[in-house]
Amino acid sequence: MCGIVGYIGKNKAVNILLDGLKKLEYRGYDSAGIALYNDSDQKIIKSVGRIKNLEEKLNLSSLEKYKKGIAHTRWATHGAVTEENAHPHKVGSITLVHNGIIENADILREDLKEKGYQFKSDTDTEVVAALLDFNLEDDFLNTIEKTIKMLKGSYALGIITDQDKDYIYVVKKDSPLVIGINDEEKFFASDITAINTYTNHFIFLDDGEIAKINEKEVKIYQHLIEKNKDINTIDIDLESKNKNGYAHYMLKEINEEPIVLEKTLKPYLENIELLPNISDYSVIHIVACGSAMYAGMVAKYILEEKTNTEVIVDVASEYRYKNINYNRKTLVILISQSGETADTIAAMRFAKLKKQHTLAIVNVKTSTIAREADEVLFIEAGEEIAVATTKAYLLQVALLSLLCLKLAYDKKIITEITPYLNEFKILPKLVKEVIDKDSDYQKIAQEVYQKNNSFFIGRKIDYSYCLEGSLKLKEVSYIHSEAYQAGELKHGTISLIEKDMPVFGIITDHDIYEKTLSNIIEVESRGAKTIIITTDKLKTNRNLEIIVKDVSIYTQGILIVPTLQLISYYVALLRGCDIDKPRNLAKSVTVE
Ligand code: F6R
Repeated sequence: MCGIVGYIGKNKAVNILLDGLKKLEYRGYDSAGIALYNDSDQKIIKSVGRIKNLEEKLNLSSLEKYKKGIAHTRWATHGAVTEENAHPHKVGSITLVHNGIIENADILREDLKEKGYQFKSDTDTEVVAALLDFNLEDDFLNTIEKTIKMLKGSYALGIITDQDKDYIYVVKKDSPLVIGINDEEKFFASDITAINTYTNHFIFLDDGEIAKINEKEVKIYQHLIEKNKDINTIDIDLESKNKNGYAHYMLKEINEEPIVLEKTLKPYLENIELLPNISDYSVIHIVACGSAMYAGMVAKYILEEKTNTEVIVDVASEYRYKNINYNRKTLVILISQSGETADTIAAMRFAKLKKQHTLAIVNVKTSTIAREADEVLFIEAGEEIAVATTKAYLLQVALLSLLCLKLAYDKKIITEITPYLNEFKILPKLVKEVIDKDSDYQKIAQEVYQKNNSFFIGRKIDYSYCLEGSLKLKEVSYIHSEAYQAGELKHGTISLIEKDMPVFGIITDHDIYEKTLSNIIEVESRGAKTIIITTDKLKTNRNLEIIVKDVSIYTQGILIVPTLQLISYYVALLRGCDIDKPRNLAKSVTVE
């Protein structure tokens, strides 16, 4: 993962780099560092922990003279969280920041050790710095070109060489990198949000391209030949950058759900034909990671039940390593909030290589997946800052569900679409009503927050909501939780049920209501404290029960999910967790 940012221009580099690092903290936040330069002097300062630790270590007034620098926020891959392993790394004349993973770092390190290099860190990045130093030629472009040919893996590199201190060099493969342009200053970063308060002109670097940057110009090379690149103008959304009075971004983002639902669905509800007709495909593969994959699970159950379509949902980290038979017409749907998840990008490229049509559901419009997929549908979540996804997941479910409805209509399985569309139209109002029942979620949180283990059980589509509810609870509150198909529990796992263990039962499927209820009674008989989330037509009249309006399968999940998000939020709050930045996580998982 990790985030990198760089600056060269007429202003104080340290302030711009620190600001950029804070905005990139979502990509990793276990240590950080900064390298500052001017013609005669260089400073490298690093710290473990959050960016604020680095900031406290910097004597800002003494650093104002530096007008050039590179910086890094780390999510450890190679080596523990220590200052030695934090970036930037300097070897000989090379100073480097790196996002990605160099897969052949160990072999290269051994080779470089034989050539006399000594290493201070355990990182793959220091190996790249040493390799660049070893490969030094008069023209630094040749040095980079020679070096990247020797690297396996993914990288976005920001490089400063003592040989040529007027420039910063950047190069990338399979990790994102964007360059920001103003008249007398230039920037680079892993993500435009790190630099979009300074400029709205950007160049997106493609794999294998090298950029040579000084304050006046950016030159891009591929295979050492200079090339022209488009400059994109992208305007800034500053609105999402503050908490608007909410204690946490997670709570703010849940409360934004009615608005972003309206924004995402409106064009399609006015003209459903804006959604693609996918009725020609015999098989649909839905590929994603984490919550995005769980959104795909919701769609799978709807597609199977309502559209007679064969669907495979797979985790992106495994999809491309399988022996997949594409002998029938297959649509590959990729789902990603960030559009930068390394495994999802790799799965998309795999499907494209196999000549399959790729349809992406993405939030970030400038992302790699948005740019490379054959067809893209955007959710309009705006920026999602809390590491645990809430509003983006809900929009993924909503847009996929509408796509499922359209497919049922295109396949003539339903002849009348208007009543369903009307249900989607009132969703923002219904979701707001669900969110407003704050005290109900707080009451449940009180019952749960002191426990160490929990279960979420449900059948069929309700199981897909369980997966997301369980993930949300464990990632933000650190309570261990498992999602189970309710009928499966008694095949072993029920032995874990003990007195007062919280078991969340989700029941929205009318056809199997009695079956799920029986499973709930089974765990109650063994002492579990059950919390039921159901609809006004299926209520079980238990003490701890959340009731939402009973709607069709296409929209039901959109009312269930905010209840699970809010329960997780309030449990994490009571446990004093770092809700917006849970330990060990990062918002955008850019390593495989
Ligand atoms: C969980 C969460 C993750 C992401 C997953 C995919 O709250 O946020 O599971 O859903 O890392 O990320 P994207 O959607 O950016 O590809």
